[in-house]
Amino acid sequence: MPLNACSESPRAACPPADDEMPVAPAKALACRQEIISTLLAPRASISPKYFYDQRGSELFEAITRLPEYYPTRTEHALLQQHGHAIASAVGRGRVVIEPGAGNCAKGLALCRSLAATHFVGVDISLDYLRTAVLRMRQALPGLDARAVGGDITAGVQLPADIPRRRRLVFYPGSSIGNFDPPQAVALLAQMRALVLADGGLLVGIDLPKDRATLEAAYDDAAGVTAAFNRNALVHLNRLIGSDFKPQCWRHLAFFNAAASRIEMHLEARSAQCVRWPGGGRDFAAGERIHTENSYKHTLAAFDALLRRAGYASSQAWTDARGWFAMVHARA
Ligand SMILES: C[S@@+](CC[C@H](N)C(=O)[O-])C[C@H]1O[C@@H](n2cnc3c(N)ncnc32)[C@H](O)[C@@H]1O
Repeated sequence: MPLNACSESPRAACPPADDEMPVAPAKALACRQEIISTLLAPRASISPKYFYDQRGSELFEAITRLPEYYPTRTEHALLQQHGHAIASAVGRGRVVIEPGAGNCAKGLALCRSLAATHFVGVDISLDYLRTAVLRMRQALPGLDARAVGGDITAGVQLPADIPRRRRLVFYPGSSIGNFDPPQAVALLAQMRALVLADGGLLVGIDLPKDRATLEAAYDDAAGVTAAFNRNALVHLNRLIGSDFKPQCWRHLAFFNAAASRIEMHLEARSAQCVRWPGGGRDFAAGERIHTENSYKHTLAAFDALLRRAGYASSQAWTDARGWFAMVHARA
């Protein structure tokens, strides 16, 4: 524990555990302890999963419409352009499982093109997901669509009546880039464990490109990404009872070429002491909280991660600029 850390006593308050059950106190306590331990680490950090309360989900959707944010529209275009080839490779009539489903817009497009029988969206931001799944049921009345709340890094609990055969895990949005390579391998392996031998994974990855394009995508002129980044502090204030003042933190986003990743941080504009019940931490002016990594893998590097996670073979589709890829891996 750093010298400037105050003492800590536990108090529970955290996101929902799943669709049906109230938050288990043990889970809530573990979540609170996780947040506080990363805030008290010598290099403070917040897991990017804490971007996503209702407001964070809305801000992310606003980001996807920004001119600088190429990933969403590039990935949508890829799904449109290569829809038939993807459907032939993946197979129709699938049970689609989407971890981190958000507004389910891509899940809806995929379910339509695959004539999927079932869809299970899983997300930490459950109210937002529920609304999206309701829209999905209206758009595709023949689809059995469900919303499941939970943290995908803690293991996905699917409803017991979801068929085991013909499952496809769909993980778009380059969300896999939020994980360090060993964590990414573990998560990919966990996704593989959700499917049988007839199943697979369809995953979106953001490919390396010029620094200016990358940095603009994470630091837009309108300041929406900055608001999204600072919203994590508002969310933490609710979760652990802290008194972060979001306006006192500067949004930073830059490309770390050595690690091939965008990093997002919040930098203290001045010295400040942040308190929460039972503890707190002093931050010096200029001190940072690391809030997100977004790795930009080459196709070869990503294929190596898939193999380490146990996948048999993979096939990729990219856009004409080579900015983004949809990768299908067989279990
Ligand atoms: C970058 S957005 C992508 C949304 C959507 N899949 C897309 O491609 O547009 C990440 C989504 O994953 C969810 N999420 C982030 N971390 C999560 C976690 N650990 N467990 C469950 N959901 C998570 C967020 O709430 C958000 O909806």
